Amino acid sequence: MSQNEDKRLAALAAADEVRDGMLVGLGTGSTAAFLIDELARRARDGLRIEAVATSLASDAQAKAGGLTVRPFEDVAAIDLCIDGADEIDGACRAIKGAGAAMVREKIVATAATRMVVIADGCKKVAQLGAAPVPVEVLPFGRAFVARALAELGGKSTLRPRGDAPYLTDQGNLILDTHFGLIADPATLARHLSLVPGVVGHGLFIDEVDALYLAEGGTVTRIERSAAI
Ligand code: 5RP
Repeated sequence: MSQNEDKRLAALAAADEVRDGMLVGLGTGSTAAFLIDELARRARDGLRIEAVATSLASDAQAKAGGLTVRPFEDVAAIDLCIDGADEIDGACRAIKGAGAAMVREKIVATAATRMVVIADGCKKVAQLGAAPVPVEVLPFGRAFVARALAELGGKSTLRPRGDAPYLTDQGNLILDTHFGLIADPATLARHLSLVPGVVGHGLFIDEVDALYLAEGGTVTRIERSAAI
């Protein structure tokens, strides 16, 4: 079973949580792309939903598939958010943002009554931190924030796109920051949020309610309430 097939199976399993009348948050990335395709297919078969998107790319994909996508700036709360992750631990804490959308993703996840992560087996870790924590930074504060991240024990690299810095959907920079294995993710997340110039970061501490994890073709649902 390929990693892509596991991503697709996790997405299909989570799609079963989507019911008529729901306002659904669409994640970003290759796993979320399978979800968007599946929801578009189900909508063509009669599922009545509306969506909000966590990135311009997901917005475009959803609209191309025929889904009704509401501008999130007009939306205060949604029913369900389904998104991928780069790492997720046994307590449903996650690192997100390899796809650069973690700021919008966290807003939409927090606005959701329920947030579920869809992932292939490679994303499950015993301890967060092999992946870098993406930190979105106002360009004005780039050097200052890099220094503050170093003082927190992080080694940061400005994410590139070709020869230029990567710009997020909001026009900000990303500092991909390695902290090594993170002993206390909640404390690190709090410290990152307090640095002036940090727009947001990819540590998700208590946003995720459940994980659909697909490994070798088998999908397991892990509820956060059971995990902690
Ligand atoms: C985007 C994200 C993605 O959900 C995360 O990077 C996982 O991506 P993929 O499903 O392609 O492995 O956080 O900002």
